[in-house]
Amino acid sequence: MSSDPATGPVTRLRAASLSLGYEDRTVVHELDLAIPDGRVTVIVGPNACGKSTTLRALGRLLKPKGGAVLLDGAELARIPTKKIAQSIGLLPQTPVAPEAITVADLVSRGRQPHQAWWKQWSADDERAVTAAMERTDVAALAERPVDALSGGQRQRVWIAMALAQETDLLLLDEPTTYLDISHQVEVLDLVRQLNREQGRTVVVVLHDLNQAARYADHLVAMKEGLVVAEGTPDEVVTAELVREVFGLESVVVPDPVTGSPLVVPGAPWTPGEGGPGAGGAAEAVEDASFSSAP
Ligand SMILES: Nc1ncnc2c1ncn2[C@@H]1O[C@H](COP(=O)(O)OP(=O)(O)O)[C@@H](O)[C@H]1O
Ligand SMILES: [Mg+2]
Repeated sequence: MSSDPATGPVTRLRAASLSLGYEDRTVVHELDLAIPDGRVTVIVGPNACGKSTTLRALGRLLKPKGGAVLLDGAELARIPTKKIAQSIGLLPQTPVAPEAITVADLVSRGRQPHQAWWKQWSADDERAVTAAMERTDVAALAERPVDALSGGQRQRVWIAMALAQETDLLLLDEPTTYLDISHQVEVLDLVRQLNREQGRTVVVVLHDLNQAARYADHLVAMKEGLVVAEGTPDEVVTAELVREVFGLESVVVPDPVTGSPLVVPGAPWTPGEGGPGAGGAAEAVEDASFSSAP
């Protein structure tokens, strides 16, 4: 990651005092958010807290009610659409495919921002589409209609389309929805590979806090349209934060595989309350320094 000692991590994409909403209702309130370049940022938070709304605004699918989204210092609203599409790829939470479109055709649509009247379809486009389909393991489905696929296959096709766009910035809204656990891991590993090998900046909305803690370099916790905490997973994922944001009692332990914080739901017994675990689990929690980092 490139960084400037004076200003910290370089960010091409940032939200400045961004307010968002629908009709009269504001759902995101004066949000300031800097997306660190070349890293994986994961946004978590309870249902309806404004994650998708924020992500759509970062991809200029939603116009701010106040404040702005800045790309390389310029307001998104002032940048030509095609230029934005060459820089930012966005996979919405519930994308809708044109009826009867095939997998190959849908993935090819990711190349639209790279085309022009004098250059309809190039070898570069072909290469990008093929590579995206291979990376997401949908090449064998190329000629199938998208609406005849399973939810998991379809999700991988959408990801392929976003990859074919070959943008430096990739915004993915719950890309693991509909996927079984092995495909979830596969997609998230792919996201990390794209980041590590190609230096792409990725912003992912995930509803699974433990997956978020595993895959995030930078974790952003939202609640009711506000950023409640951000930082490394170790800094953000604490029992206090889980209680504050999700209203859930939990014990946070190190993930046995990755060492990242792992949230185990369940209120521990408190000493003096009696019950089989009295003085057991609660003490263990107090002893565990990782469960309540500041
Ligand atoms: N198109 C829309 N029209 C009106 N309200 C919306 C629309 N999309 C989302 N909302 C509302 O905005 C709030 C935030 O939604 P959303 O950003 O989708 O939350 P999240 O992705 O965190 O679950 C919710 O109350 C939701 O009902
Ligand atoms: Mg959402």
